[in-house]
Amino acid sequence: MKTRLTRSPRVAAEFIRAGEVVAFPTETVFGLGAALFSESAIEKVFIAKGRPSDNPLIAHVSFVGQIEEIAATIPPIAHELIEAFFPGPLTLVLPRKPSVPKIATAGLETVGVRMPTHQLALEFIRESGTPLVAPSANLSGRPSPTTWEAVKTDLDGRIACILQGEQTHFGIESTVVDCSGGDAIVLRAGALTIEDLRRVIPRITQRSDASDQQPVSPGLKHRHYSPAATVRLVSHPRHAGDESGAGFIGLTPPAATQLFARQAVCLNVSDYAYTLFQFFRACDEDKIRVIYCERVEETGLGVALMDRLRRASRRD
Ligand code: TXA
Ligand code: MG
Repeated sequence: MKTRLTRSPRVAAEFIRAGEVVAFPTETVFGLGAALFSESAIEKVFIAKGRPSDNPLIAHVSFVGQIEEIAATIPPIAHELIEAFFPGPLTLVLPRKPSVPKIATAGLETVGVRMPTHQLALEFIRESGTPLVAPSANLSGRPSPTTWEAVKTDLDGRIACILQGEQTHFGIESTVVDCSGGDAIVLRAGALTIEDLRRVIPRITQRSDASDQQPVSPGLKHRHYSPAATVRLVSHPRHAGDESGAGFIGLTPPAATQLFARQAVCLNVSDYAYTLFQFFRACDEDKIRVIYCERVEETGLGVALMDRLRRASRRD
């Protein structure tokens, strides 16, 4: 299949109307969109990504009223979060309507819903005339794409169209909050911080990875966000090994005597998050075998960043 590149949300939406899948930018990472109510289109998403079918997809809407097409009920706590944070980098897990295809939710009775704040994304969803399921637009297991070029590297020839946009603002995915049981539980740390959420819902909790309580975010059990290189976490660049040809990313400048084949010294934690996945991909292109990543404090965006770094460093 020839993959069409376009900057027009209208042209991209025509592919959705024809039952095809289209990659598009959001404020977090690029998504791989398909019409929510088309089983055959959703199947193409799983095939293009090589995604395990037990990992549910997020439904993306272009206006708040569209949530009613997807969710059977909107609990009061979800209303509060919608009021405060939609549109934005927040996904709410809600009870699903029976009309939502099971393939979209991996058989769960709940569905993730998010309204991006990205203008081009909103126009594209609006022009499509339907909510869109959209996982991150990478091959399964690879770092999420933050540029359209990264999407092209992974999915050229496997999808009908890429809606081109600038590098994505946050660089890491949305925060996933389960509201289906009446309380609010963070299932996946993401671009919206727990501190921000707490200002609205002081009693919000975080599902600890250790617990095996339901409901979980099934995607979290899969290996994720990994470059081909081995990722090692260090508390300071001086703790990086001295093998030649390694990569380094972090906040502290390495000593002048330290030689890395590729390095990124970021201005702050948000710049680190913005840069990380693109850096992983650049290291892969350079055939770098080891990447040292400096740990950050686990507050604010640092929580989600450390989550991604740990997952990338895991070898299973
Ligand atoms: O920022 C984002 O969320 C991006 C952009 C494209 O919107 N999308 C994204 O999708 O990261 P994906 O498929 O890569 O990650 C979705 C996460 C997975 O961890 C999945 O398990 C969880 O959301 N999820 C989706 N539906 C769920 C549900 N019904 N219950 C629990 N977790 C769910
Ligand atoms: Mg993903």
